[in-house]
Amino acid sequence: MDTRIAPGFDLAAIRRDFPILGTTVHGKPLTFLDSGASAQKPRAVIDAMTRCLETAYANVHRGAYHLSETATEAYEAARIAVQRFLGAAEPEEIVFASNSTAAINLVAHSFGRGVLKPGQFVLTSEMEHHANMVPWQMLRDENRGIGLRYVRVTDRGELDLEHLAAQLADGKVGLVAVTHMSNVLGTVTPAAQIARMAHEAGAKVLFDGSQAAVHRHVDVKAIDADFYVFTGHKLYGPTGIGVLYGKRALLNAMPPFLGGGDMIASVTLERTTYAEAPARFEAGTPPIVEAVGLHAAVDYVNGIGMEAIEAHERALVDHAMATLTAVPGLTLLGTAQDRGGVFAFAIDGVHPHDLSTYLDRHGIAVRAGRHCAEPLHERFGVDGGTTRASFGLYTTPEEIDLLAAKLVDARKFFA
Ligand SMILES: Cc1ncc(COP(=O)(O)O)c(C=O)c1O
Repeated sequence: MDTRIAPGFDLAAIRRDFPILGTTVHGKPLTFLDSGASAQKPRAVIDAMTRCLETAYANVHRGAYHLSETATEAYEAARIAVQRFLGAAEPEEIVFASNSTAAINLVAHSFGRGVLKPGQFVLTSEMEHHANMVPWQMLRDENRGIGLRYVRVTDRGELDLEHLAAQLADGKVGLVAVTHMSNVLGTVTPAAQIARMAHEAGAKVLFDGSQAAVHRHVDVKAIDADFYVFTGHKLYGPTGIGVLYGKRALLNAMPPFLGGGDMIASVTLERTTYAEAPARFEAGTPPIVEAVGLHAAVDYVNGIGMEAIEAHERALVDHAMATLTAVPGLTLLGTAQDRGGVFAFAIDGVHPHDLSTYLDRHGIAVRAGRHCAEPLHERFGVDGGTTRASFGLYTTPEEIDLLAAKLVDARKFFA
């Protein structure tokens, strides 16, 4: 038995579910280590979307005919699947957006502009993906009197909770918006503790779960999140769909973001009244086929079990920690206690873009650059960027070994 694979985790069978994993790149078997950017899709997702397009497709919420009713049922069933996946109380708390970025922008527009008051602050962190930083800078720069603060990151790559407490102390923070797992450092943040601290200071809390929801069992009620977002394509689902969870009363207290069809209660030439959430935030034709695909993805990961996925990943992380840090000249960004399968590193004397091109020649797909987290790279003094290997539920220990071996070769090659 391979002790690097969690007991009972049938990795070979799982890999067979992903058609792309059987393909080659430059004549080499594909070693896909960029799931943090976007994950590959299992046959179940591909088939569900094809089936929908071939047999059950029509616009939703509009037609009083069979096909439209079938599509509407499928779309709403996806909402229920996501509600259960996140442990939300009601399906009305699940809003579909086009991705995490759109979901966070929705909160920045509706909650930021409609609920936050002049003199209040949004508190985010140095560790954020630009998706959870730029919308708050845009809000600040509109001169509505809403400020922006950042929580520092420690040298280990963890959120500095003392600094978080200090930033909350004056009671002026209206919203804490932080990541639940860093897409660069792999750090998993203590969400329940952060939510408690935010609430005690009178603030609401939003978690960017774009990475965490893929790697960990998430329960928004247990965390007591006010908002939680994730994106379909990282969770083995399609692009074009993301999720905003919001507590129902909070969503219904927020003004709409986009106006148009589907989000209204009534419209006259003089005025419009708005539907309640989630319809209020889903103007226009929604991502119907994508919702069907996301539903299939949620069913797929539930079928394996998020706990089993997490255990597999913990084993991979331990293996990667030992293997990658043994590579000469490798500097790892972040050594947080609680971390997932995302490893950003620099190799002495090798530019990340050269390195990723070299690895690609060996069939290994990694990401090079600053991974939409430029301030975090600056914080760690690696403005030139890093190379990032990120795991999915199909990642094997052998792939990590291959990466480590090719990193050693690359360093010699570029010396
Ligand atoms: C932590 C984090 N937040 C937000 C995003 C943005 O996701 P999307 O591009 O699907 O909106 C990403 C994607 O890389 C991410 O890793």
